Amino acid sequence: MGGGGTPGTLLSVVGARPNFMKLAPVARAAARRPAVRHVIVHTGQHYDAEMSDTFFQELGIPRPDHNLEVGSGSHATQTALIMQRFEPVCLEVAPAAVVVYGDVNSTVAAALVAAKLGVKVAHVEAGLRSRDWTMPEEINRVVTDRLADWLLAPSRDAVDNLRAEGVPAERVHLVGNVMIDSLVASLPRARASRAAARHGVDKGPFVLVTLHRPNNVDAPATLRVLLDTLGELARRMPVVFPVHPRTRGRIAEMGWTAPPGAALKLLDPIPYLETLSLEDRAALVVTDSGGLQEETTFLGVPCLTVRPSTERPITCTEGTNRLVKAERDAILEAAGEALRARRPVARPIERWDGHTADRILEVLVDGAGYRV
Ligand code: UD1
Repeated sequence: MGGGGTPGTLLSVVGARPNFMKLAPVARAAARRPAVRHVIVHTGQHYDAEMSDTFFQELGIPRPDHNLEVGSGSHATQTALIMQRFEPVCLEVAPAAVVVYGDVNSTVAAALVAAKLGVKVAHVEAGLRSRDWTMPEEINRVVTDRLADWLLAPSRDAVDNLRAEGVPAERVHLVGNVMIDSLVASLPRARASRAAARHGVDKGPFVLVTLHRPNNVDAPATLRVLLDTLGELARRMPVVFPVHPRTRGRIAEMGWTAPPGAALKLLDPIPYLETLSLEDRAALVVTDSGGLQEETTFLGVPCLTVRPSTERPITCTEGTNRLVKAERDAILEAAGEALRARRPVARPIERWDGHTADRILEVLVDGAGYRV
């Protein structure tokens, strides 16, 4: 590891649910290297046991060395609080690199602190772009990549985006998709968990749904259309919908209830292995999550992403994903087509092979290059 900081010390910062699946393989790869000290900071952006603790337990992630306990708040409040509380930790640990993951507020906040302290930043999942500036995640991605010294890209389109933005080529490494490391490592356990049977949907095809983006759930009119459409879909086959706390809050405010006779199961958030097990068995996934677009592509499960754009276009061009508008007819038509079609065959994507975390450690610790 070049530059300042304590040689051999890496400091990972995570905060929200999708970060944890990305951290787990890096923590394992770091633990296999006796010369590496890996410090983990949890910002506390997600704090419910079902949004955080269960992921650490199931994925075998060591207990965080520091928890900043920032909790929920406006973007400015949350980002500022993370920065304020992370700065002294970063100074104390004095790592050779701060490693940040994905595109959540914890990612950009930690990257800003490190960059201003002159500590090098490694961004896992660099280069993804939706080009939709109404998404807070797009702002987080662009700013984090601008600050990063190591840009660890999951796919070639991400490398192309960074090149087009003028990022020096020597900083960019095509390491692959680290979340697929977690999927590969966890799939046997997930399959053994038989989640579909536990939810009573193992006798036939079912649809798995997740929706939590502000664009879909914060406007009552849009959310009502989506819920009513899911109710219609659930007349055809069971729909299993683990509900994110943001969405749960909005549904409660609206006072919406499922139409009678519809097999629409609204659940509390479910753990990682259960999600993976349901995804693997689903006839169709309807989502606005980034991670599920990638996991369904890897598993060969058809996916409808309820968004006007995606920062993961490879899941559409090479995978099983299709974008669909948040409108009743568009969703029902696309769902009908996907359910009538033969189940797609999963095609391997370059470096989505379960070994991304090892490549990340090679880049950060050994100075290896995965340049393309
Ligand atoms: C955040 C990320 C988003 C990611 C998502 C995954 C940002 C800008 N957004 O969105 O990219 O896809 O996590 O889940 O970083 N809440 C709880 N318990 C918790 C956490 C949140 O009840 O443990 C509720 C709170 O009411 C909170 C709301 O959910 O206000 C939203 O949480 P927040 O972390 O602000 O954003 P997410 O919608 O979770």
